[in-house]
Amino acid sequence: KPGRTDGARGLRFQAVAPNTADQVTVPAGYSQNVVIRWGEPILRGAPAFDSEKQTAAAQAGQFGYNNDFLSLLPLRGEHGRQVLVANHEYTDEVLMFRGYDAANPTREQVEIAWAAHGLSVVVVQEEHRSGKLSPVRRHPLNRRLHTTSEFELTGPVAGHALVQTSVDPAGRTVLGTLNNCAGGTTPWGTTLHGEENFNQYFANGSSATDKRYGIAAGATERKWERFDKRFDLAQEPNEAHRFGWVVELDPYDPESTPRKRTALGRFKHEAAQPRLTDDGRPVVYMGDDERFDYFYKFVSSKRMKKGGSRAAHAHNLTLLDEGTLYVAKISGDSPAAEIDGTGKLPNDGEFDGSGVWIPLATAGADGAVSHVPGMTAEEVFVFTRLAGDKVGATKMDRPEDVEPSPRSGRVYVALTNNSNRGKGTNPGADEANPRNLNKHGQILELAEHWDDPASDGFAWRLFLVAGDPNDPATYFAGFPKDRVSPISCPDNVAFDPYGNLWISTDGNALGTHDGLFGVATHGERRGELKQFLTVPRGAETCGPIIQDRRVLVAVQHPGELDGASVENPASVWPDGPGKVVRPSVVAVYRTDGGDIGV
Ligand code: FEO
Ligand code: CA
Ligand code: CA
Ligand code: CA
Repeated sequence: KPGRTDGARGLRFQAVAPNTADQVTVPAGYSQNVVIRWGEPILRGAPAFDSEKQTAAAQAGQFGYNNDFLSLLPLRGEHGRQVLVANHEYTDEVLMFRGYDAANPTREQVEIAWAAHGLSVVVVQEEHRSGKLSPVRRHPLNRRLHTTSEFELTGPVAGHALVQTSVDPAGRTVLGTLNNCAGGTTPWGTTLHGEENFNQYFANGSSATDKRYGIAAGATERKWERFDKRFDLAQEPNEAHRFGWVVELDPYDPESTPRKRTALGRFKHEAAQPRLTDDGRPVVYMGDDERFDYFYKFVSSKRMKKGGSRAAHAHNLTLLDEGTLYVAKISGDSPAAEIDGTGKLPNDGEFDGSGVWIPLATAGADGAVSHVPGMTAEEVFVFTRLAGDKVGATKMDRPEDVEPSPRSGRVYVALTNNSNRGKGTNPGADEANPRNLNKHGQILELAEHWDDPASDGFAWRLFLVAGDPNDPATYFAGFPKDRVSPISCPDNVAFDPYGNLWISTDGNALGTHDGLFGVATHGERRGELKQFLTVPRGAETCGPIIQDRRVLVAVQHPGELDGASVENPASVWPDGPGKVVRPSVVAVYRTDGGDIGV
């Protein structure tokens, strides 16, 4: 069969070589199609995309910008169809608007950006006996949620003084979700969406807590504060407290109001991926993507109800409002002197050790309890980073996406890089973050005690220390390094049906383009990493989904390079020369219709 080569089941494809082609490059014997592009109409009445005549009203009915996390959910009763949910993390105005004047954006440009952020729900249809997917326009489940859509705050902080504003004195209704990066899919049929770098939208931060969250003192780059005073913290100081949450969306109910789940804490939420305990309680793993920030989990006190009845579903929509939020403290088992910051393996041959989950606060039906001296429970949930500081949580190399293996239960945490590790007065290397000036990142594999996700302790080891395999400071789970692909800056992680981990990258520091990789996590081939695709110039690879017959990726910010603009594009993907570059979702499938990688 074309392209079939050696590898673990699910990874039998000819690895794609690192390259700088301005295209999506896939293995021999595989084909691809663009499933949906920025601006494609998905709602009734939305016009076809015209980059020269874009309006906010048009954008509100069209697929948003910079697709990141993707989820595909089953759609019963409609043959060959699934529900695609996508995050639209942020906008690249200079690549969207001809002649964009960053010092003086127009109201229309700002309102287009508002409408291009947020979430999309769009039903997709597969082509007969192929992995190809295309959008079903005007399907009743299709939906856009953006910067002026209503979201409900739920859980311990809902209604609290810290989230009350002049427009919403009740502190329960927020307009918009921002910077939705990665996310997760729950076993009860909803999707979770991390609000990541929300700090960049708010001007005139002044408090110590604003500072800890990276909210700067002056004007913002986007200048939204000129068009809506809620983005000016000098006028509306609590508005930023209403962002930085995990959003839960019910994609099957187009009338539902998505909820911001405050029991999961407030930080730069990269992702949120749940797993159930043996007695049916969801445990959600979450990273805070910042250099030297923390890794968390939330353990619900409520059990998921099965069966899919209306009552069961209504109950399941309350699971993430009650439970305990924990932060990780991680210790190595090798002497500190053996961790020299170069990535050299310690004498026991592994970066590994143990960890404890430190409880921060518990939300219950009758109120919330703090476990952090000097902070109320509500303060812990709103200023979670400060709670992590107080309890001495482990400062990590930018925790990005996280995925528990559906087979082994082990949890894989992408730590993308940390150029400041060991620099100046910053913390130096530790066993879990073993390289100073860490350019390429690592993946940590966490095993809860007794394989119980609610456990208060865990064992861990580094599964992958990324980089060029010829670099002695790299590690591929002990697999021979002459047989693996180079990889740099792991960001999103997902599992295929065979238990292989798939990793997409953002920020490849090896001089070639970002891409998607598959790696075996068990058996003799554990650590055999193979590149499956590469993305166009300036793009990062996001949202991977690996199904039997297709791989789905979100190609985010193609053409985003210094000095690039509509007039001076760095990429012409996917529509070719003379057209604006468009972030898009791509499906990759075997040309002969077979299963991926077998
Ligand atoms: Fe939006 Fe942490 O990547
Ligand atoms: Ca060790
Ligand atoms: Ca990310
Ligand atoms: Ca990233």
